[in-house]
Amino acid sequence: MQITDRFQFPVLAPSIIAADELNLESEIQNCINLGVPWLHCDVMDGHFVPNITFGPDRIKAIKKKFPEILCDAHLMVSSPSFWLPKFLEMGADVITVHVENCVGSDIATWSQQCKDADVLFGLAIRPTTDLSVLKPWVSLIQVVNVMSVYPGFYGQKFMEGSPERIKTIRSWGDTSEFLIKVDGGINLETAQLCLDAGTDIFVMGGAFFKASDRKAITRDFSHLKRP
Ligand code: DX5
Ligand code: ZN
Repeated sequence: MQITDRFQFPVLAPSIIAADELNLESEIQNCINLGVPWLHCDVMDGHFVPNITFGPDRIKAIKKKFPEILCDAHLMVSSPSFWLPKFLEMGADVITVHVENCVGSDIATWSQQCKDADVLFGLAIRPTTDLSVLKPWVSLIQVVNVMSVYPGFYGQKFMEGSPERIKTIRSWGDTSEFLIKVDGGINLETAQLCLDAGTDIFVMGGAFFKASDRKAITRDFSHLKRP
């Protein structure tokens, strides 16, 4: 079965960067209990962004314990050619690299490698990168990760120009052609703005894991309506 057939969009994708690091197993179990089976995994190498998180072994450990959960690896790394095959090998279900540090031949190769492994391939774009850099590649990707904060840290403020950027990207193709994921500063209010603009997947770091009532967030998210 295709990954996209397993989910009903819009999808909520908690980002484990904001989870309790010393209790990750129970944090993920809590997501599963809440019926939230899509995990966003922010991989930072300390070069592409000024922060370090974790590597492919984290994905392997998560998939071993929770094979049913979808691992969406967002690679904020300077050497995607080196890292992408390792994340494929460790069982990531979705792999996203940044368009800012790729050349076209890489994108075609990674797209094929992911396709062969039945993994969704995506490109992420920083909030300051011109959308024209992304447009030539949309036919080779299944997901666009639209950054609505500067990559590197959770808990930042949503950048207000993001829904307009999402609308433009959506005008290039509908959900059956590629999925749009918004990433950064998402809460129920900004999620609604991005849903209206055509987003399918909503990464939530701080607003989910630091919430006093995750059940309420999950329920209220499921009540958001497309226009
Ligand atoms: C930022 C990351 C985001 C971030 C989301 O570099 O890519 O996934 O962790 O966290 P919030 O939702 O708190 O902005
Ligand atoms: Zn991310």
